[in-house]
This record gives sequence, C-alpha cells and structure tokens, in this order.
Amino acid sequence: MLLDGKTMIVTGGNSGIGEAIVLAAAAEGANIVIDYVAHPEATKDLIARIEKAGGKAVGVDADVSKAEDLHKMVQTAVDTFGRLDVIVNNAGIETRTGVLDTTEDEFEKVMAINLKSAFFGTQFAAKQFIAQKTPGLVINISSVHEDWPMPGNIAYCVSKGGTRMLTRTAGVELGPHGIRVVNVAPGAVDTPINTSTTSDPEKLKQLEDAIPVRRLAEPEDIADMVVFLASGKASYMTATTVFIDGGIMQGSVGL
Ligand code: BGC
Repeated sequence: MLLDGKTMIVTGGNSGIGEAIVLAAAAEGANIVIDYVAHPEATKDLIARIEKAGGKAVGVDADVSKAEDLHKMVQTAVDTFGRLDVIVNNAGIETRTGVLDTTEDEFEKVMAINLKSAFFGTQFAAKQFIAQKTPGLVINISSVHEDWPMPGNIAYCVSKGGTRMLTRTAGVELGPHGIRVVNVAPGAVDTPINTSTTSDPEKLKQLEDAIPVRRLAEPEDIADMVVFLASGKASYMTATTVFIDGGIMQGSVGL
C-alpha cells in the first residue's frame, strides 16, 4: 500500500474533495485525522466506513479557522498515531460575491477558513515534523483561481492567491528542514461547493463547454494526486503548484 502507516490530517475531510482524499488515503493504509465542526454526523459515518474497511481514523472537534484548533488536530495525530507525516489543508468555502458586494463578514470568513487555516496548519505541522526529526509534506488544496480571476468570487480568489504565495514562501523556508509544501489546484469539481452551477442545467452546460475535456472533475481525480504526492513520489517537488483542471485555464473559445 502506498501510504502504509503514514498519518495524515485532512481539514474539511468530511465532504467534497476532502472526503475523497480521506477515503483514497485510508484505502492506501494511511491513518486519518479529520475535523468535525460543520458536519459531526458525516464525520462519524466516514470514520465508521474507514474502520469497516480496516483503516484507522479519528475525528477532532475543531474549527479550522482558529489556530488553536489546528494545533489540537496536530496534537491528536501525535497522541493517537504517534507521529504526523502529511497535512492536507483542504477546508474551503466561497461566497460567489464580487468586489462591490462582498461584506466584511464574508471576506473575513473566507480568509479564515481558506487561508489562515492553511497558514497555521502549515506552521503547526512543520513544527511537529521538525520536533520528530522526520521529513514532512504539506499539501494545500488551492484552485485554478490562485492564478486565474473568477469575477464574482473575489474573496475566494484573494484567498487562493494567498495560498499560492504561502506555498512558495513556506516551501522555500522549510526546504532546509526536509519539509515540502505543494499546492494541488483543481478546476471545476463536482462537489457541494459547485452546487449553484451543477444544479442549473444551463450554467452546467456553459461550464462543461469551457472545459477542454468537457466534464467536471470527480473528487477522486483530485484525491489520486494527493495520494501520489503523499506516497513520497515526486519527492523533488516543492514550493509549486500542480493544476488538475481538465485544461480549463488554457481553454479558448477560438473565435
Ligand atoms: C471554484 C468553483 C469554480 C471552479 C472553476 C473552483 O475553485 O470553487 O466555484 O467553478 O473553480 O472555475
């Protein structure tokens, strides 16, 4: 198995891309740590599914927008499984609001869940890797919108732009400690974050037409890359981004 005995934290691990990562990593032998502030039942079910399949997982009551709760997740990983190998900063939200109508509350919430949590997840995981004297890997689930504007979703874009620079700067700072930091940047994925598009046939068709491979990604398409990176393959990769977007960023109407 690719991740036999490795311990992995996945924030936002109980839905969407996070859930697919958790299931794929557990199937490859990883011990999983997830948070459960938003959907406690889903976390319970997910842990039961992992355990039924012979895997190990623990849920932590943690609000990832609070630094101390991220610290609690790292501590739980160590207390339960003895060490930490990989953190996947996956939790994310978007408001689909633009520069003229985004409120202070909306802006702060998006920043706290998408960017601040990735920052402190990275910091606490890195401190643990250094204390353990082992190499470590931080994977930030970013987006094509770390680089590519999405008009009408500005707070999200700003947060993902920040994630891009977090990964580059932390990757440079932490490289000498044997710690790598990599962004995985999906395009459009069929998850709850995209329901406003996928539930509207016209919008969905427009989106599919904009994607060169003519389909949204499945969460498993993203999870496959996370498992690959967590396995220790591509071990020279750090401070950069892997895009998994069906070509959407390079698309052109060709008119
Ligand atoms: C956003 C989606 C968007 C997709 C492609 C994702 O990061 O969450 O709202 O549809 O990028 O533009």
